[in-house]
Amino acid sequence: MILLGVLLLGVFPILGALAQDCEANPTGEDTTSLTISEPDQLRAFDNCTRILGGFSILNTFKGPFVLNSVTNITGFITLDSLVDTVDGIDALEMANLRWIMGLRLRRTAMLNRVQLPSLEEAAKDMEFELGPEGSWFDLQALKRVERLLIRGVRADATLPSLETVDWVLSIDSDPRSNANVSSTPVNIDLPVLKEAGTLNFYGQIRNLSLPNLAALNRDGSLTWGGLNVRADSVEFPGVFLPSLGEVNGELGFKGHIPRIELPGIEHTDASITINTNSEVAISSSLKDLGALYIRGQLTALNLSSLTNATTLDIHSDTKVACPINLISTHRRLYGTYEPPFCTDASLAAAGENPYTHYALPPSLQPTPSPEPEPFWSPTPTPTPRPDSSGGGGGLSEGARTAVIVVVVVLVACAVLGGFFIWRRKSSERQVGDLKGNVDASLGAMTAGMRHGSADSAAAGQERSSDHDAPPPYSREPPSAKG
Ligand SMILES: *[C@@H]1O[C@H](CO)[C@@H](O)[C@H](O)[C@H]1NC(C)=O
Ligand SMILES: *[C@@H]1O[C@H](CO)[C@@H](O)[C@H](O)[C@H]1NC(C)=O
Ligand SMILES: *[C@@H]1O[C@H](CO)[C@@H](O)[C@H](O)[C@H]1NC(C)=O
Ligand SMILES: *[C@@H]1O[C@H](CO)[C@@H](O)[C@H](O)[C@H]1NC(C)=O
Repeated sequence: MILLGVLLLGVFPILGALAQDCEANPTGEDTTSLTISEPDQLRAFDNCTRILGGFSILNTFKGPFVLNSVTNITGFITLDSLVDTVDGIDALEMANLRWIMGLRLRRTAMLNRVQLPSLEEAAKDMEFELGPEGSWFDLQALKRVERLLIRGVRADATLPSLETVDWVLSIDSDPRSNANVSSTPVNIDLPVLKEAGTLNFYGQIRNLSLPNLAALNRDGSLTWGGLNVRADSVEFPGVFLPSLGEVNGELGFKGHIPRIELPGIEHTDASITINTNSEVAISSSLKDLGALYIRGQLTALNLSSLTNATTLDIHSDTKVACPINLISTHRRLYGTYEPPFCTDASLAAAGENPYTHYALPPSLQPTPSPEPEPFWSPTPTPTPRPDSSGGGGGLSEGARTAVIVVVVVLVACAVLGGFFIWRRKSSERQVGDLKGNVDASLGAMTAGMRHGSADSAAAGQERSSDHDAPPPYSREPPSAKG
């Protein structure tokens, strides 16, 4: 027995040392992947721990894809069907795989199991589509992925270790290939996810848990960054994002969404689009946001800190008590057009609309838009606005003073400039006169005017003529805009 134990202890390190690199396609023309048409072909890799290259699975492959010894696949596993669906491959099992470049299984109607319990990282994209009722996936060790798309989710979708999604995570309960399957709502649980570019959740969702999500599209590098939720299940309680503090891009909520809570965020340029077919109660600590579009039946709109938005396009079947800040923000944007979603009592509590009797110069009149454009295009593009923090008033006292100072400085510059030009001109007088004579036949008038203004500067320097070239160090005066 002791001898056996010693033997085993001795053998295991040797097995470890036998870690074996295998090339997926040592002879074929395509050096990056091996084409696989049946499960038996994988036997050749039984003792491999690392596979250099990847696998391209044919549509005709039937049965499970199993490679349990492998820890690292440096290439991609792909099955990208050109036909509508593939009903051959039914499982993907790699118990020890820790790293893969990428995985693309598209339109796999019979796939019912994706078992990658040790996988920690996918460098590029991972995409798979589950088919039958009862399908499941295990990605319990996955920490980081660039792009993860899972379609046809049938059981609770938990990614207990996932912290970072560099680009996009989409979880969709809708089966593309088997639309008849009645799916039961699933829980989506992402307990440690902190950061993502874009998150998309679609379909029959019973619950969505993102307790630690802090940032979406933090650096703003993605055109489509943000969050999209489309909930079809009447069991869905709503979206609660307690840790979200930073968003660039868009937040979109559609379907049955009774509650939207964003208690941790104050500033964003993101636009928020809410289009529910349920009642919806919204609350957030937001102070600034981009555009806010709401269609639905509001039961609460607690945006009591909001003081800045580019657009408030809100239409509700019911009226809600609006916080005073929200009413003021709406009035600054739309003047006499009062927010139609606020109760009369809350409007009264906000006092008289200051724009009702206040005659602004026409250029500063806020443009009321009583019937805002229908917004429900796929991507409402927020209209960039001029950065007018003043909000409706004329030029402030400070701005007026600044304009006066700028004008005085400019005049002084012009006078000084004229003086220097005169100094130079007078030292070049002879050359200038000579040149003037040469040019006389072509531009006597121009030459004369130039000399004339130089002379007047020499004589009195009272004011610089409009025809004088500006001194080289002066700038165009900033065009005075309101
Ligand atoms: C894997 O290792 C076992 C035991 O060492 C050996 O019998 C088998 O032939 C090896 N398989 C391959 C494909 O090399
Ligand atoms: C797997 O191989 C790739 C490519 O050689 C390497 O970048 C990666 O770090 C490896 N991962 C593990 C866990 O060994
Ligand atoms: C979908 O279900 C309907 C009735 O339940 C059936 O008639 C139809 O053939 C089904 N379609 C598919 C593609 O299974
Ligand atoms: C639903 O998710 C919330 C967090 O968003 C969590 O507090 C709650 O326990 C979850 N409910 C169920 C039934 O999983």
